[in-house]
Amino acid sequence: MRNLIDILDLSTDEINQLISTACDIIENPNKYAEKCKRKKLATLFFEPSTRTRLSFEAAMYELGGNVIGFSSSSSSSTAKGESVSDTIQVVSCYADIIAMRHPKEGAPMVASMVSSVPIINAGDGGHNHPTQTLADLLTIYREKGGFDNLTVGLCGDLKFGRTVHSLINALSRYSGIKFVLISPDELKLPDYVVNNVIIKNDIPYEETTDLISAMPNLDILYMTRVQKERFFNEQDYIRLKDSYILTPDKLENAKADLCIMHPLPRVNEISVAVDKDPRACYFKQVLNGKYMRMALILKLLEVS
Ligand code: CP
Repeated sequence: MRNLIDILDLSTDEINQLISTACDIIENPNKYAEKCKRKKLATLFFEPSTRTRLSFEAAMYELGGNVIGFSSSSSSSTAKGESVSDTIQVVSCYADIIAMRHPKEGAPMVASMVSSVPIINAGDGGHNHPTQTLADLLTIYREKGGFDNLTVGLCGDLKFGRTVHSLINALSRYSGIKFVLISPDELKLPDYVVNNVIIKNDIPYEETTDLISAMPNLDILYMTRVQKERFFNEQDYIRLKDSYILTPDKLENAKADLCIMHPLPRVNEISVAVDKDPRACYFKQVLNGKYMRMALILKLLEVS
């Protein structure tokens, strides 16, 4: 039985296969409409979500399956003190596969140790968000045709932004990648990601606070929200929340084929005026996420 806890649980070949399946789903949706008939997905969200939970649910319905679950810990027996481990052992009795989001780093890993059905990490604290990365990879593949030789700018909250950590892990396996890490000093990429992923894989990178001067070299600009819910001190959040606001004038020196990404939700880090720019890809990411989650459910349920 396979789980998806970290994007590195999937080999490069497996990611390529998921992309291929997702592209086939886009071309031939009817072929997949009953693939998961009589199967049940449980979505256990101990932390808020719009895209991830609803795209998992839409994915399962489009595969002909059913969905059970909860959207907040307050509406589950977690509120009475039930542990993650007990919750998962119970839900394993009802569902064929579980997608879970939890504020504590490592909770999906703990769940995978006691579950009798596959566990998908739908985001754990400031740690990882591997299915967002699958959405990001399909978007890059469809916009750029592949992953090699890209200069990828990651901008905003690189400390708490779990989507950034997972994406760096995934892209580090392709050749010719360069990272430009754009953040305030207080929100720099954690040392464990810089050392264990970027430096370990000998990937060129630079760290800067200046988005404008980094812009002309970028093939991908991945904007992120400052993660209010991970701050201990509200004053720090208020001081840092407007560090980067992407507006049309800041794109004047960007490449004509720049791909502007954001995992969403956004607060104000991308002005709505940028939405009209043909380089804005963040709503395409949302749709791509559903197709990749469909492909992932098929893989983990071993449905051919
Ligand atoms: N990108 C993402 O994880 O969005 P949600 O928090 O709405 O699921």
